[in-house]
Amino acid sequence: MPPTDRAWLAAAARLAARGRPLSRPNPAVGCVIVQRGAVVGRGWTQAGGRPHAEAMALAAAGDAARGSTVYVTLEPCAHRSERGPACADLLAEAQPARIVVGVADPDPRTAGEGIDRLRSAGIDAETVASPEAEASLAGYLMRARHGRPHVTLKLAMSLDGCIALADGTSQWITGEAARAHVHSRRALADAILVGGGTWRGDSPRLDVRLPGIEDRSPERWVLTRGAAPEGAQAIASPAAIGDMSGVQYLYVEGGAQTAAAFLSADLVDRIELYRAPIVIGDGLRAIGSLGPASLDAAHGRWQRRETCQLGSDTFTAYRRTRSS
Ligand SMILES: NC(=O)c1ccc[n+]([C@@H]2O[C@H](COP(=O)([O-])OP(=O)(O)OC[C@H]3O[C@@H](n4cnc5c(N)ncnc54)[C@H](OP(=O)(O)O)[C@@H]3O)[C@@H](O)[C@H]2O)c1
Repeated sequence: MPPTDRAWLAAAARLAARGRPLSRPNPAVGCVIVQRGAVVGRGWTQAGGRPHAEAMALAAAGDAARGSTVYVTLEPCAHRSERGPACADLLAEAQPARIVVGVADPDPRTAGEGIDRLRSAGIDAETVASPEAEASLAGYLMRARHGRPHVTLKLAMSLDGCIALADGTSQWITGEAARAHVHSRRALADAILVGGGTWRGDSPRLDVRLPGIEDRSPERWVLTRGAAPEGAQAIASPAAIGDMSGVQYLYVEGGAQTAAAFLSADLVDRIELYRAPIVIGDGLRAIGSLGPASLDAAHGRWQRRETCQLGSDTFTAYRRTRSS
């Protein structure tokens, strides 16, 4: 049985991941061009935002794009810029038979216009809802729809939910494989944030130390009611994350008060939890006070998305369930 539209869009979403976060400020888009069941072109948004995924895939496909089916995670752009033509025009010229889009573009310069232009060029263009495409564009969509970055909260904790000993020591709770994994996750973010307490107490480097991608360290931010310390920018409350210019993906690394501040404001979209097989007992609990709680309200908010073993530690990611 040939792959479904949704399977091809999922493949395009996997390609899109290669562009994140270097495509900033443009969304990381993926594109696959299929002719008689075979892939003839693939593309993803390049560093700095150009070329776009569609332009790259069309260049690879050449004449084979005529009569093909194009799968693209985000509606092709309809606006020309100084840096290149609109993808809707490039596609119209290439004359594929069909274009399948994973997510309609909320950017008012394109919204609906990309699809309309393709249809006007005689191409069968449609949107097929794709959770994979939607997930691959989470940061771009969050910024466009809600004016803020997508927020991941990382917690490295013991079996009994502590992120430090009672005296504040937290290096190291997890093992080498988990810490390397954290560095790979940092490399996917535009910005990384810790609370003022962690900044002062741990002097964390907050950089990417994986061979070959050391240059992918994100911007450093601190949550503080005071002034920005040297080497970082500051926000005075979680609600101010919308002011982090151009940031689509924010990675929050704690500590406990900071985690609580973001969770209380309902500004965490994903929790990435590293659990080490150690018991601390009387230590610092991972998350500070969240105010009065009800079990009814606590249920149904988080959905497990992935889990894996990293040496002796376990990684589990949870997604905040929201309507959009
Ligand atoms: N295992 C892990 O994953 C992990 C990760 C990080 C940290 N840690 C550990 O966690 C401990 C530190 O945690 P912590 O809870 O004491 O401190 P923290 O969350 O790192 O920092 C607390 C500070 O953040 C700022 N802050 C908190 N809520 C705020 C709000 N709503 N608005 C504005 N600013 C706010 C304030 O900074 P100002 O005082 O500057 O105003 C506050 O003093 C350390 O022992 C560290 O080693 C563990």
